[in-house]
Amino acid sequence: MLRGGTDESGDVMAEFAWDPERLPDLSGRAYLVTGATAGLGFFACEQLADAGAHVIMTGRNPNRLVAAREAVTRTVPDADIETLLLDTSNPGSVRAAAATVRVRKSLHGVLLNAGIVHPPRQREMTRDGHELVFATNALGHYVLGGELLTTLAAGRGRLVWLGSMATSLSPYETDDPELRENYTPWRAYAQSKIATTALGLEADRRLRSAGVRVRSVIVHPGYSTSGRTRRVRGVNEPSRTTRIADALQSPITQSKERGAWSLVRGLVDPEIQGGDVIGPRFTLRGQPRHTKAARVTRDRATATRLWDYCESATGVRWPLERAARKKRR
Ligand SMILES: NC(=O)c1ccc[n+]([C@@H]2O[C@H](COP(=O)([O-])OP(=O)(O)OC[C@H]3O[C@@H](n4cnc5c(N)ncnc54)[C@H](OP(=O)(O)O)[C@@H]3O)[C@@H](O)[C@H]2O)c1
Repeated sequence: MLRGGTDESGDVMAEFAWDPERLPDLSGRAYLVTGATAGLGFFACEQLADAGAHVIMTGRNPNRLVAAREAVTRTVPDADIETLLLDTSNPGSVRAAAATVRVRKSLHGVLLNAGIVHPPRQREMTRDGHELVFATNALGHYVLGGELLTTLAAGRGRLVWLGSMATSLSPYETDDPELRENYTPWRAYAQSKIATTALGLEADRRLRSAGVRVRSVIVHPGYSTSGRTRRVRGVNEPSRTTRIADALQSPITQSKERGAWSLVRGLVDPEIQGGDVIGPRFTLRGQPRHTKAARVTRDRATATRLWDYCESATGVRWPLERAARKKRR
């Protein structure tokens, strides 16, 4: 059945409906989500658990992880959940979490969701010397993808990267991925999202050419705000001011529950192929549909350079040959 996708010129083809409120049965499948303690990551976990998946909720703060797990089990009492500490800005933490997960025989998807969406005013550095927003949103996920590649290959799984509309709204500094010059909070965010999307598309090209049975997919949630999202104790408790401010933007926004629809479709819709891009039908809101990545993120030379940069900045080389040999479990 044709459901959709993009043809070779990148044009969006027609597609049949995907119903985000009626997911396929995901029993026996396992998914890891970064940044599961709030926002889109939390609601993606809730939707996956409700469809019967085993969900590995990860986060940087143990108390917030406990609260998030309890919140999922309040709405999905038989949820099959485990929690794991994983700070994407810290490569040691990413490696330790990945080592725990690799004990599993296979994994069906990793949602690379964690992100700083309100960057600091002044440029900040991680302990290992990287710009904080780039490290959290892009570099840590590059490391996690490499560390979990063989486990994903065993489950014919997916890597799902979080893009953003910001990728179309800002130029990319090819020579300065970590914005040593001209840092602003907005530029740091857009730069990290362009990098994340370009890495996801480059991963797709490398996985295909190496014959690895892992699909790399890009998703974005449109414009999803916490003030338009139901209250969830310990997870989503926006102030009255936030509720009012977000209500004023309601014609162009949606809840984070709905924003998570694109993320979950990217992870579980069997029709989705590596390199596909999924976002809301009306750009900022709506049902998840195939869409097109911003031009800058599709530039191969930029993506290759960025990939090489991540490789040398982290010392992590994706084990493509080993993953290609991995038998299905
Ligand atoms: N909302 C939108 O409209 C929108 C649009 C485009 C793209 N996105 C992307 O969607 C993703 C989620 O956004 P959101 O709106 O759900 O944001 P959010 O509500 O602020 O949630 C962000 C999540 O990421 C976690 N996080 C932040 N830094 C982390 C780190 N170093 N290690 C591990 N987890 C970390 C947070 O954990 P704590 O609970 O510990 O803070 C939280 O769970 C981001 O990648 C963002 O760029 C969002």
